[in-house]
Amino acid sequence: MTTLFKNIKELIQVRDQHIDFISGADMKILPTIKNAFLVLEDGLISDYGHMNDCPKTTFDTIIDATGKMILPSWCDSHTHIVYAGNREGEFVDRINGLSYKDIANKGGGILNSAKTLQEASEDDLYNQSKIRLEEVMQLGTGAVEIKSGYGLTADAELKMLRVIKRLKENYPIEIKATFLGAHAVPKDYKNDKAAYLKMLIDDVMPKIASEKLAEYVDIFCETGYFSVEDTALILEAGKKHGLIPKIHVNQFNAIGGVQVGVKHQALSVDHLEIMRDEDITALQNTTTMPVALPSCSYFLSIPYTPARKMIDAGLPLALATDYNPGSTPSGNMNFVISTACIKMRMTPEEALNAATINGAYAMGLETQVGSITRGKLANLILTKPINSYYFIPYAFGNHQIERVFLKGEAI
Ligand code: NIG
Ligand code: FE
Repeated sequence: MTTLFKNIKELIQVRDQHIDFISGADMKILPTIKNAFLVLEDGLISDYGHMNDCPKTTFDTIIDATGKMILPSWCDSHTHIVYAGNREGEFVDRINGLSYKDIANKGGGILNSAKTLQEASEDDLYNQSKIRLEEVMQLGTGAVEIKSGYGLTADAELKMLRVIKRLKENYPIEIKATFLGAHAVPKDYKNDKAAYLKMLIDDVMPKIASEKLAEYVDIFCETGYFSVEDTALILEAGKKHGLIPKIHVNQFNAIGGVQVGVKHQALSVDHLEIMRDEDITALQNTTTMPVALPSCSYFLSIPYTPARKMIDAGLPLALATDYNPGSTPSGNMNFVISTACIKMRMTPEEALNAATINGAYAMGLETQVGSITRGKLANLILTKPINSYYFIPYAFGNHQIERVFLKGEAI
């Protein structure tokens, strides 16, 4: 099966040589080819170049992209797409003056979602979640990480992970799974957090490893949730079961989560709304990707990750949605990119690098997606006719996507 796209106004994020991720000043560079062609073969990118060199051979499908652009599909490295029910009541409570913390303290928040999820059957959970997955695919996401963490019992955590596995089997989008059992301390363990962590480590992690239900391990390292010591414990146990750390840190308080993540070679440290100078320094010259979640800042009215300061200090940065029922009921990467430009003063080039190649790295998919590179999956966005790629973040609240291709097939 071969496809030729011809007369592409601009082919974006073209990387001839493999690159793991982009850091610092290099993030301002977004390589493109104007007036380009692109060839797909059996779901992979097989060739591209300037229209002057467009092959004259025959193809199964030829698409004329005059006036339109092509870029790699979005890589959303942090989501909680598998959940049951919603929390729009808490949204109204916040409008009326309660804080996110007030709501959590009275048994709402993560515990509220956990109760709903525990009561949902696996099929019901799958059916609710697949609607969100289909929605984000239509919005241009071609690779996504999905976390557990709304189960908070052994059975319900495994139920979530099995739903993620089913989604992986049934959809063409790339999916990575993360075990976030340590998302909040459940009511039954209110006075014995250590026993909860022990249960996660002794009962749940071995099942995850034997059923191959997750690649990554996460924990909410935050005042009132889990400490730096708890984080070290979970990350070490995860490592023994083959789970690589990708963790929630510095959302409301900087308590040393970045440092513990770096120490345990976390693939990513995510949120980072509150960053001290020493947190930025700790990330320099490491393989840990910082991940910003601007839709969460927007929805909760909390600070934005100081992207400018971090990139200017030479760090890489990835952008993700955090799609979840409490802090970010949106999986729209187009909005994330606009918000990063508008509120975090990232340039369009930085935001597009952060949402593609750096996002791919943050979920271990950098050899498969995130750039227009020969041999990578043909997971692509074909835009509507637009004048320049600046229009993608500029036209906020909208998107410029005409069609999405996953493994070479239009969805
Ligand atoms: O990434 N911060 C921790 N977890 C989620 C939100 C959890 C919730 O409110 O349901 C997040 O924002
Ligand atoms: Fe999250």
